[in-house]
Amino acid sequence: MLAEHKIKNFLDVISNSTNEELIWMNGYLNGIVSTQNVKEEIPKKSGVNKITITYGTETGNSKKLATEFAAKAKKQGIHAKVQSMEQYRLNDLKKEEYFLAVISTHGDGEPPAAAKKFYDHVHQNGFNLDKLKYSVLALGDTSYPLFCKAGEDVDEQLNKLGGNRIAPLQKCDIDFDTEAEEWFSNIFNSLNGDNSIAAVPSQIISKKPSGKKNYTGTLLTHVNLNDKGSGKETYHIEIAAEDVSYRPGDSIGIIPENNKAIVDKIIALTCINATTNIDYKEELVSVFDLLHKKLNIVYLPQRVVKLYGTVVQKDIPLKRIDLLDLLKDYPVSDAQQFLEIIKILEPVAPRLYSIASSPESHSGEVHITVAKNSFKVDDEIKYGLASAFLSRLNGNGLKFYVHPNNQFRLPEEDKNIIMIGPGTGIAPFRSFIAERDAAGATGKNWLFFGEQHFASDFLYQTEIQNWFETGVLTKVNTAFSRDQPEKIYVQHKMLEHGAEFFEWLNAGSYVYVCGAKEPMSVDVEQTLLQIIEQFGDRSKAEAEQYLDVMKEDGRYVKDVY
Ligand SMILES: Cc1cc2nc3c(=O)[nH]c(=O)nc-3n(C[C@H](O)[C@H](O)[C@H](O)COP(=O)(O)OP(=O)(O)OC[C@H]3O[C@@H](n4cnc5c(N)ncnc54)[C@H](O)[C@@H]3O)c2cc1C
Ligand SMILES: Cc1cc2nc3c(=O)[nH]c(=O)nc-3n(C[C@H](O)[C@H](O)[C@H](O)COP(=O)(O)O)c2cc1C
Repeated sequence: MLAEHKIKNFLDVISNSTNEELIWMNGYLNGIVSTQNVKEEIPKKSGVNKITITYGTETGNSKKLATEFAAKAKKQGIHAKVQSMEQYRLNDLKKEEYFLAVISTHGDGEPPAAAKKFYDHVHQNGFNLDKLKYSVLALGDTSYPLFCKAGEDVDEQLNKLGGNRIAPLQKCDIDFDTEAEEWFSNIFNSLNGDNSIAAVPSQIISKKPSGKKNYTGTLLTHVNLNDKGSGKETYHIEIAAEDVSYRPGDSIGIIPENNKAIVDKIIALTCINATTNIDYKEELVSVFDLLHKKLNIVYLPQRVVKLYGTVVQKDIPLKRIDLLDLLKDYPVSDAQQFLEIIKILEPVAPRLYSIASSPESHSGEVHITVAKNSFKVDDEIKYGLASAFLSRLNGNGLKFYVHPNNQFRLPEEDKNIIMIGPGTGIAPFRSFIAERDAAGATGKNWLFFGEQHFASDFLYQTEIQNWFETGVLTKVNTAFSRDQPEKIYVQHKMLEHGAEFFEWLNAGSYVYVCGAKEPMSVDVEQTLLQIIEQFGDRSKAEAEQYLDVMKEDGRYVKDVY
């Protein structure tokens, strides 16, 4: 019933209304009541009221899937709380009933940085999770030696701590949609009354081969972008691949080949017949090809060094080392024993390179920008495996796959963007600018680029200048760190233009950062906060909140390595 004052108002409205208005009100009220009824009548398909979904992500895929799953759960009448593993209160795990974890693997089989605390927590003993009903969706890439390792570990640990699986662990390759969908429906089946928890297998055995598409490209162009006098070598590489499909922001994954000279030395040292064929992943491959193209023989991880020690029956210090050095220090007894060593070697892990071309401007091609990685070991200069391989690439075909990055995308054509990409961080921005140029996008584009010297290290200088002259690039700021006594980096240039930078931010501009994770992206983020504080007249806390909102809205994104 209505309260007395409401009845009075109601009768007042009725008595002052025409017949037409009364009919309209009748329809309006009917509409409201029927929508409410529909809401109340959402069939709750399962007896489960709420679930918690946590995600551990580095590049956003796990978050995307966790959020999609929550939306589906909601449609089934289940309240789903979604939370990053970084923010998840670890003590709550003991109180959970239905708990889902979506987690990717990064580095060399490690959890994403934001999931590390959660990962370490479930690896502790001394607590019991026997009330927990859980399942894990593991994201990874089958090209890595430790496929979905972090997800496997979390699944196993939750089980060890007493948790019960409501659906088996699902491992996904980089084309994860179908497998994730399969996991979603497994969970819903389980929540909808199929309570055969004890019978849940620990893992779904993938029935179909991965849909990840491998391309073989032909080398078109291979030039060192650095000029004489530079301390660096950065290669611009163009590869033709007719049917290649990608979007600006994506990378390619390549499996590098080992140096032939090193393979020859290994063969000479072990006296193995290089042409002997070995069964490897359902194909027959010669020893030479295995060592040259498939197996990792440099900077072996400790777990492989340990296994090496077991085969040669020696106590070997557990530190990363090249196979050739191991063979010199702890030789194998004969060729037969080396065959045992071959069995413990892992596949070469892929390396990713940001695509520097644009599908609109460079159809049928993929361009990359590769810095030759060099470092010193005991005063000897050594080079990174993949970047050295790419630096000496010649006419042979290059195998690669596309690694999508759905977080790092151009916004709508009329939006403004700020790109901060020193060094090889310029690569995706060459793709962005060329794409916007070809599409005639109306949004403004501001580029910050940095390197050591203007004369020798201004990567893509001519293109950048052309884009500036034709107006595709609205603004360009460069920082050449070693052209003056004090070091000047991109973050200093951002601050120098802080007032205008903040104007762009406040008008809705998107900010992209690409290149070295440390220290560059950390310093750039600090400077962004400083600009918001100083030129946006905000407190430190307000500036952090401002940037958090930008992150949430996808207006501040990083692709750093
Ligand atoms: C999303 C993404 C995009 C990327 N985009 C680009 C890009 O556009 N351009 C680009 O140049 N790079 C890019 N990278 C980095 C690239 O993938 C590689 O990591 C980089 O080229 C180094 O690989 P490498 O095989 O040459 O070096 P690795 O052989 O992997 O060596 C890496 C490091 O390991 C150590 N190391 C290796 N071997 C030894 C040894 N024997 N003894 C002691 N230490 C050793 C050294 O510190 C060395 O620097 C990107 C990375 C990611 C994740
Ligand atoms: C540098 C790097 C290292 C990776 N290492 C592994 C690995 O060791 N094992 C694996 O299965 N996947 C590995 N991956 C693949 C990621 O797990 C995969 O791309 C996943 O979809 C990322 O999900 P996320 O966006 O939620 O982090 C790696 C990816 C990158 C970029």
